[in-house]
Amino acid sequence: MNRFWTLSEEPVGDWPGPETFELREAPMPAPGPGQALTRTIYVSLDPYQWGYKRRGVDKPGAPCHARTVAQVVESRMEGYAPGDFVFNTNGWAEYGLMGEGVARPSYMIPRRLDPAVGRISQGVGVLGMLGLTAYAGMILQGDPKAGETAVVSAASGGVGQIAGQLARLRGARVVGIAGREEKCRFVVDDLGFDACVSHLSPTFAEDLRAACPAGVDVYFENVGGAVFDAVLPLFNPGARMTICGLIAHYGDAAGTDARAALMARGKPIFESRNVTVRDLFVGDYVADHHDAFLREVGPSVAAGDIRYREDIREGLENIPAAFAEMLKGGNFGKMLVRVGDDPTL
Ligand SMILES: NC(=O)c1ccc[n+]([C@@H]2O[C@H](COP(=O)([O-])OP(=O)(O)OC[C@H]3O[C@@H](n4cnc5c(N)ncnc54)[C@H](OP(=O)(O)O)[C@@H]3O)[C@@H](O)[C@H]2O)c1
Repeated sequence: MNRFWTLSEEPVGDWPGPETFELREAPMPAPGPGQALTRTIYVSLDPYQWGYKRRGVDKPGAPCHARTVAQVVESRMEGYAPGDFVFNTNGWAEYGLMGEGVARPSYMIPRRLDPAVGRISQGVGVLGMLGLTAYAGMILQGDPKAGETAVVSAASGGVGQIAGQLARLRGARVVGIAGREEKCRFVVDDLGFDACVSHLSPTFAEDLRAACPAGVDVYFENVGGAVFDAVLPLFNPGARMTICGLIAHYGDAAGTDARAALMARGKPIFESRNVTVRDLFVGDYVADHHDAFLREVGPSVAAGDIRYREDIREGLENIPAAFAEMLKGGNFGKMLVRVGDDPTL
């Protein structure tokens, strides 16, 4: 049998609770022609998954969507053999099919993971779509120059860690924004950011201003809300802002347009200081930039010039709790749940 988590109903609350999900089992799926059966090793928990559930992309009864690292068990798919490690989208499930006719977001294309290149878990993190997200937003959009100041919110998270380190490698002064004290210390001591301020501090806005004495040239926005409001007055003329995510708003009432509200608040400064604001959707970059990103960033990860912290929880049973925790800042690093044995460890 295959165990998986599904929505128990269309989510009604602002944030997930224990009643939101239900553990079910179903007969093991059998691979058809062009398909492979894979065993999930790591389930990636990401903030966007709450949007999938609230917007009805995930359906009650079906496994909740997630990007996964898995191992091929049985293959009728050309180029994939039992034992291969893959990036795919098994969801919150112990097993799943990939290949011909298996539904998935168009840009989440299954691919083989080489354990010699990096830890297989990194296939959903720094060496996967989160790395590409950081690369697209920070390097291709933000384009930080030596001596400029780049600010990254949710700096200790899956995307923020990489975005900041990429800016540092470009020679920028990098300032992170994170929650608790130990996260801020990690961002400076382990990731090499020049400073990190806590958005939990009552003096957050002043702390940020003090950490950015020359203003802000590049802002990588993961959060929105009060964090955006503190960055806004610090923009230098000609600054670039990438809207990667607005996690502070993922529990807003249905129909609220957080991005529009943020743009309205920012408009006077964006216009008077000629700030370029760009949206980011990683799916737009997969086809043209994924391989180039891996060629450029992969060696820095292998050499330890880019470090990457993961927060790995254990057991399929613990997915809903870990997911709810991540949405409120309870993760420390990229959140993953190991649901099956990782033979590379
Ligand atoms: N545009 C794209 O294509 C794309 C792709 C991937 C991810 N994203 C977005 O990128 C952002 C970061 O994703 P991630 O995977 O790296 O998540 P993450 O940072 O690993 O986890 C979320 C973190 O957000 C912070 N946070 C949560 N609520 C907050 C609030 N109200 N105010 C301030 N900080 C808050 C918490 O960190 P602290 O404890 O430090 O506050 C939490 O740990 C998300 O908005 C996500 O949706 C976008």
